[in-house]
Amino acid sequence: MKIKNIALFIVASLAVIFGDTTSEAQSRKEENSPILVVYFSMPETTKTENMTREEDNSVVVIDGKVLGNTQYVAKVIEEYTGGDIYRIEPENPYSVDHRTLVDLAADEQRKNVRPKLKTAVTNLEQYDTIFVGYPNWWGDMPMILYTFFDNHDLSGKRIIPFNTHGGSGFSDTINTITKLEPKARVEKTGYSVSRNSVHKAKPVIISWLKQLGF
Ligand SMILES: Cc1cc2nc3c(=O)[nH]c(=O)nc-3n(C[C@H](O)[C@H](O)[C@H](O)COP(=O)(O)O)c2cc1C
Repeated sequence: MKIKNIALFIVASLAVIFGDTTSEAQSRKEENSPILVVYFSMPETTKTENMTREEDNSVVVIDGKVLGNTQYVAKVIEEYTGGDIYRIEPENPYSVDHRTLVDLAADEQRKNVRPKLKTAVTNLEQYDTIFVGYPNWWGDMPMILYTFFDNHDLSGKRIIPFNTHGGSGFSDTINTITKLEPKARVEKTGYSVSRNSVHKAKPVIISWLKQLGF
C-alpha cells in the first residue's frame, strides 16, 4: 500500500514537472468541440545545422526535428487541443530556394493568382472551430491562403488565425479573412509570433489557448 502511494506520488510529480500528459490531451479532445488546425508553412531546409541565414530564419529545430515556423505553432495547437490537422500545399510544389521563393511570392501577389491546392478538406462539416495559420508574405497571407478560403465555405464556423513573421505581425490579414469569410466568426485577437521567438513559444501558445477557453 505504502509503495503504491509512493508510486502514485512519483507519477503525479512527474506530470507536474513535465507538464501535460497524453491522457489530459485526450480528455481535452473529448471536451472540445471538433477542431481543425489548418496551416501553410515553407521550411526552406531539412538540415539541422550549417544553415544559411535565410534557411535558419524559416525553420525551428525542436528535439532534433526541423519544422517550418508556422508548422511548429500548428503542431503545438494540434497537440494541446487534440484537433485534426490539415496542411495547405500547392499542387505544384514551391521552390525552397529563398530567392526563387521570394520572387514567386511577389509575382503571385502582383498577379492576384490563386495557386491550386494539392488536396481539399473533404469533411469540413464536422468541424466547428478552425485554426488557420500562415507566415506573413509581403505584408499579406500567401496567395494560396486565398485559394483555401475561396474553395472552403467556413460560414458559421469559428476561425482562429495564427501567424509567424519577420517583423510585420499579422499586417491586415485578420480583416482580410473576415472579408473572405463574412459569415464566419473570426477571432480578432489571433496569435502572432516573430520567427525569432518561435523556439520558445510553446508556453505562450498554451496560455493563449487557455485564455480562449481550450
Ligand atoms: C516570400 C516571403 C515573404 C516574406 N515577407 C515578409 C513580410 O512582408 N513581413 C514579415 O514580417 N516577414 C516576411 N517573411 C518572413 C516570414 O514571414 C517568416 O520567416 C515566417 O516565420 C516563415 O514561416 P514558415 O517557416 O512557416 O514558412 C517573408 C518570407 C518569405 C519566404
